[in-house]
Amino acid sequence: MLVGRSNVGKSSLINALTRQKIARTSAEPGKTRLANVYRVARENTPPFFMVDLPGFGYAKGGSEGFDRLAKGVFARRPAALLLVDARHPGLESDRAAWEWMTGATEHAAVVATKIDKLARGERIRATRQLQSVYDAPVVPVSAETGEGMEDLWKLIASLSQPRPRRKNPNA
Ligand code: GTP
Ligand code: MG
Repeated sequence: MLVGRSNVGKSSLINALTRQKIARTSAEPGKTRLANVYRVARENTPPFFMVDLPGFGYAKGGSEGFDRLAKGVFARRPAALLLVDARHPGLESDRAAWEWMTGATEHAAVVATKIDKLARGERIRATRQLQSVYDAPVVPVSAETGEGMEDLWKLIASLSQPRPRRKNPNA
């Protein structure tokens, strides 16, 4: 599940990960308006579904539409990635989304996008800053150059591990 502000690079990341042009991207915010579901099959990994959500505020049906959509897809407690622009750590809307996501699933992590726009030294600083803001693993990536894709695949694999069973499901 990919969550993030409009234009942060969710659809581009799906294309970069799969090395295919399957998700439609645009320089204009608001390209993705519905939840788009892709079945991803990789060597040595069981196939899984990847969901590309609209950016906050851009879902068909407005914010109610987004809430409905998000509740629907999160009902299955999926692994979820919050995508944030590496150049803008800790935005209010991102933090709000993180609160919501971590309440909805125990498998959440942060991806810093567009890392190619930062100089080397700034990348490390931005990644550390994000780690402290979200207190979670942060993988820096660029859909443009393909940097970070292997690390991201590893993160996805680790998030997709079977969930720990609750001892008492009624507790
Ligand atoms: P919505 O569908 O509107 O929610 O946006 P999105 O998050 O799916 O963003 P999208 O993938 O459509 O990308 C938005 C813009 O950012 C496009 O112009 C992309 O080319 C650009 N972009 C995405 N990823 C990167 C990246 O890693 N580096 C750079 N330089 N540009 C990127
Ligand atoms: Mg999109």
